[in-house]
Amino acid sequence: MTTYGHFDDAAREYVITNPQTPVKWINYIGSLAFGGFVDQTGGMLICRQDPALNRITKYLTQDPPSEFRATTLYLRTPKADGGYAVFSPFYVPTLTPFDRYECHVGLGYSTFLSEMNGLRTEVRVFIPNEKKVVVQAVRVTNLADEDQTVDLVPVVEYTHPDALKQLNNADWVPQTMQSYLHEEGDGMKILSQAPFMFKDIQRNYFTANLPISSFETDRRAFLGDNGYGSWASPGSLGAEELGEGLALRGDNIAALMLHLGKIPTGENRIAVVLLGQTANIEKALPTIQRFRKPEEVEQAFSDLNDDWDSLLSVTQVKTPVADLDRMLNIHNPRQCAITMNWSRYLSLYQLGFGARGMGFRDSSQDVMGALAGSPKESKALLTKLLRVQKRNGSAMHQFNPLTMVGNMGDAGAEEDRPHYYSDDHLWGVLAVASYLKETGDFEFLDQEIPFYEKDKVEQPLETETVWEHLQRAVDFTQGNTGQHGLPLLGFADWNDTVNLPNGAESLFTAHLYGWALKELITLAELLGKKRVAEKFTKWYQAMKDRVNDVAWDGDWYLRYFDHNGEPLGSSQNKHGQIYTNAQSWPVLSGFAPDERALRALDAVHNRLNTNNGIKLSTPGYDGFDPEKGGVTTYPSGAKENGGIFLHANPWVMIAETKMGRGDRAYQYYQQINPAKKNAVINVFECEPYVYPQNILGDEHPQFGLARNSWLTGTASWTYQAGLQYILGVRPEYEGLRIDPCIPSGWEGFSLMRRFRGTDYQINVTNPAGVCKGVSSILVDGEVLQSTLIPAFGDGELHTVDVVMG
Ligand code: GLC
Repeated sequence: MTTYGHFDDAAREYVITNPQTPVKWINYIGSLAFGGFVDQTGGMLICRQDPALNRITKYLTQDPPSEFRATTLYLRTPKADGGYAVFSPFYVPTLTPFDRYECHVGLGYSTFLSEMNGLRTEVRVFIPNEKKVVVQAVRVTNLADEDQTVDLVPVVEYTHPDALKQLNNADWVPQTMQSYLHEEGDGMKILSQAPFMFKDIQRNYFTANLPISSFETDRRAFLGDNGYGSWASPGSLGAEELGEGLALRGDNIAALMLHLGKIPTGENRIAVVLLGQTANIEKALPTIQRFRKPEEVEQAFSDLNDDWDSLLSVTQVKTPVADLDRMLNIHNPRQCAITMNWSRYLSLYQLGFGARGMGFRDSSQDVMGALAGSPKESKALLTKLLRVQKRNGSAMHQFNPLTMVGNMGDAGAEEDRPHYYSDDHLWGVLAVASYLKETGDFEFLDQEIPFYEKDKVEQPLETETVWEHLQRAVDFTQGNTGQHGLPLLGFADWNDTVNLPNGAESLFTAHLYGWALKELITLAELLGKKRVAEKFTKWYQAMKDRVNDVAWDGDWYLRYFDHNGEPLGSSQNKHGQIYTNAQSWPVLSGFAPDERALRALDAVHNRLNTNNGIKLSTPGYDGFDPEKGGVTTYPSGAKENGGIFLHANPWVMIAETKMGRGDRAYQYYQQINPAKKNAVINVFECEPYVYPQNILGDEHPQFGLARNSWLTGTASWTYQAGLQYILGVRPEYEGLRIDPCIPSGWEGFSLMRRFRGTDYQINVTNPAGVCKGVSSILVDGEVLQSTLIPAFGDGELHTVDVVMG
């Protein structure tokens, strides 16, 4: 069995031990404010606030993984017969054979450890909290029997901040890119870089805590031979010093010659390398001077760890299953936080060149998974989302969080198709409801937030409370139905790729509307708004009746009606006969009566499940059909066309827990658990420490192959499914609901939960071997007559003993 690494749960890391992973494996550092990702061989894609318009490093994802990608370090030792041995402790780009290689993928940092040519190099890469600088803390230890004289040469290659221009304008971009030198005395130097028009307002910089004996900023000069020297063997590293060229145009890099000097056997030398961005160098000096001190770097690293401690300490579980614990305690909440922060801006799959920004639908769901750990950020994001909701209740599909300018995504692409998505706005209701349940911050409902539309001087046309925003969302869907009285599909619903001609109807949106109404009914009752609750109850009942009247196919529910009123997701169809979301969502919305719910979920199990996860639909469409749109651009088994779209899997898990089938929910959870993919990693290929968005389905010859890791709604929903529905500890408006639905073989589990500032130590035992059902609860030793633990809000530790049965 090939593996590329292992989990180290105590260190909260995944340790990659072979750099030749099947695809690049990355980790995120910093945040969208300043940050990006670092891959398993030290290449970094860094940007500030906007990967499209303020990108810093030129990381080209399409190059083979053996190639230099934007950042590396070289080490250099003199050879006995003259010249130098040049090698990278990151393996790439010199591909030097190593005795040991480790990339520790940690929370907000990666630490590299390699041993080659008698040197051990440790490099920790991270971004101090709130700072705009990447720190590389380097320690080089001499493992050889004799002294070694070592040079360290860190390198970065810059991109034009306008990332797309860098790729498509080779006239303007190279004419403008320039580099500068700031001498500070005693050999201390800072190199900076900017396109000419930005030189007085925004500079990238690169420096170290050691004297820079020479440098290079021109790529061609660094590589040598007019650029025919390679990154694997840069010509300029053959000479004692670098050429000190200051690029006046062209491909700008920064390379620093740092002489670490003679290192005796067993001893080490340390260096700190800084890559940052600043308005001008004067402004950056305090930061530079601070992080040149190794003890400040240590302090910043410990602060970073503290931040993650506090985020993760909100929920810690202990179950009989290590793979479950490591996801729920470490890797899944981390992915939720990263996904909420980066939305779908920047990954190895979302390249961040365009103007897409954040998605209304995606971010609303991201908030639901991240809000317990990051309530403030979640509230800020919710506020932004509601600002791009329109007065009629619908929402802009995407928006740029810096400018708050919205766009309609692909819904603008075709003239004769609807220019909105039917589901976006409804996700906002679920997200706000989750936020209120977690925090109890009901005042948020009274907060006034403008709708998206503005007048000629950019003033909002209307501002309303959050409560009104939520009601407008369901109003829009209520007033936007088609020939069966079901919500019109618009350009698409959650499934972006089924794009039917005007007039089609979506069952998914009907169910999402149902779930949103249920939330608003509960909320209205709680707020004493009886008439509103009654109105929404009527709407809910009417939609429920309609769905059950027209959308039951016999063994499962339909997914769409097209513009002619013909069903999709029906046994009558040749392709796309059954869709997963069409079965899970009737349970989530509460529309399905029990008998139908069980049949529909059994149909998922029988027709859509595989040992790599549940497919989104089956059978796949077998050729391009412009009338159906995007779904038919994929071969059968890929992505939305019969692929395993992981995002939809936790919805089935949740539905199964609602029906009490804990064994099946758990089976579905484990079959997509990335931590279990270590065992089949050469098929799976992606990082085993995060969920990917998709896995090829069994209609595809490469069944089991994952892609699009990190930024996916799968993170939020598997986290919710695992904690709130399988372990069953679920925030509600008035407390914590205890409602586990676990595998019958479990004897119990325990869970520590911080909820509204108070800690609950919850111990669950399962003496009768059931999946679901609670026979007794003691809170601090006293019997509780319900399954809802009150929100004590007293900051004390409370013990909750639950017996299932
Ligand atoms: C992608 C999109 C998401 C959509 C899903 C299904 O994950 O980011 O918004 O719901 O695809 O099409």
